Amino acid sequence: MSAGRIFLSPPWVGDDERKAVAAAFDTGYVAPCGPFVDELERRLAALSSRRHAVAVASGTAALDLVMAHLGVDSSWTVVAPTLTFVASVGPAWHRGAKLVFVDCDKTGSVDVGLLDDALRSAGGGRTLFVGVDLYGRCCDYDAVSALCAERGAVLVMDSAEAVGATFRSRPAGSPGVAGIYSFNGNKIVTTSGGGAVVTDDPGLAAHVKAMSQQSREPFPWYEHREVGYNYRMSNILAALGVAQLGRLPEILERRRANHGKYAAVCGRLGVEMLPGVDGENHWLNVALLKSSEGRDALAAAFAAADIETRPVWKPMHLQPVFSGVRVFGGDMSRDLFERGLCLPSGTGLDEEDWGRIMFVMETFSKGGVR
Ligand SMILES: Cc1ncc(COP(=O)(O)O)c(C=O)c1O
Repeated sequence: MSAGRIFLSPPWVGDDERKAVAAAFDTGYVAPCGPFVDELERRLAALSSRRHAVAVASGTAALDLVMAHLGVDSSWTVVAPTLTFVASVGPAWHRGAKLVFVDCDKTGSVDVGLLDDALRSAGGGRTLFVGVDLYGRCCDYDAVSALCAERGAVLVMDSAEAVGATFRSRPAGSPGVAGIYSFNGNKIVTTSGGGAVVTDDPGLAAHVKAMSQQSREPFPWYEHREVGYNYRMSNILAALGVAQLGRLPEILERRRANHGKYAAVCGRLGVEMLPGVDGENHWLNVALLKSSEGRDALAAAFAAADIETRPVWKPMHLQPVFSGVRVFGGDMSRDLFERGLCLPSGTGLDEEDWGRIMFVMETFSKGGVR
């Protein structure tokens, strides 16, 4: 009998989280503000080695607020990796910025040579580069920081998928004017839905915080010098986040163990994997089949066993909505999309789950890896 569906990366929560949420409830801080929001922000600042953190409603909201603070509008060019989730570029698109996409290298991170070409070509107004730490692997922080500095581009790190990852001991989200995290239900650490901005700039932090709360001025009545947003994180959800961060070392250890298992079985069966990078948090493990037919066949084999998988992000330059957007390169990300399959990588995978996952992989590979 089936033991139930195995999801790609479901939340991993238990007694710690239940107690923290109950504490938020019992102390009466059910309203959005409260001590758990403050505590979560303190911990996120420490985790990211940043001076400030602002907890907000989602990773997308976090990026939107940073763009609002910077004043991104139609006079800006926003350069972004093409291999990412749409939320990396959605806020810039909504603000009317000119988008430019850049291909990845074989690890899935932005190709720094092509990034240089893209930044050089962005003439006119201001330029912003949204760096992305794909699947919990930091891009080359040294290279992207140096290129942005050299070409006069503002760097914002979309580290939504990379909580707990590092680049040469530097935390995900630490370069640039700001970094953002996501605490969506499928991420390394979840608040069920949530996000954060991390930054060293006190002005940016204060403005983002104010805008997330409707930009209300400190008057007894509602006074506004600008129009803000309702992007706050609630104290109850922050409690969940504080408890999750308390378990981050264990979460990362379990994710590393997952990766070790996939590396071993893929090595034995001759299945290629997306090359690893140091310091990754192993959010999602990615198998690279020999063809898109092979990818679809493996996905179908997992689906038949009630196990969730997902193709690698479909690159932005292949999305119908971005059909007119300039892309530098594009073949590498297309190839990873066509052949790549994200494998179940949840923190809570147990022995029985692994038995089912391995059975599918072994059986599939007997048919000859395609
Ligand atoms: C790369 C990337 N950027 C941004 C986001 C947006 O985060 P959220 O879902 O919390 O809005 C996500 C995740 O969903 C993501 O994977």
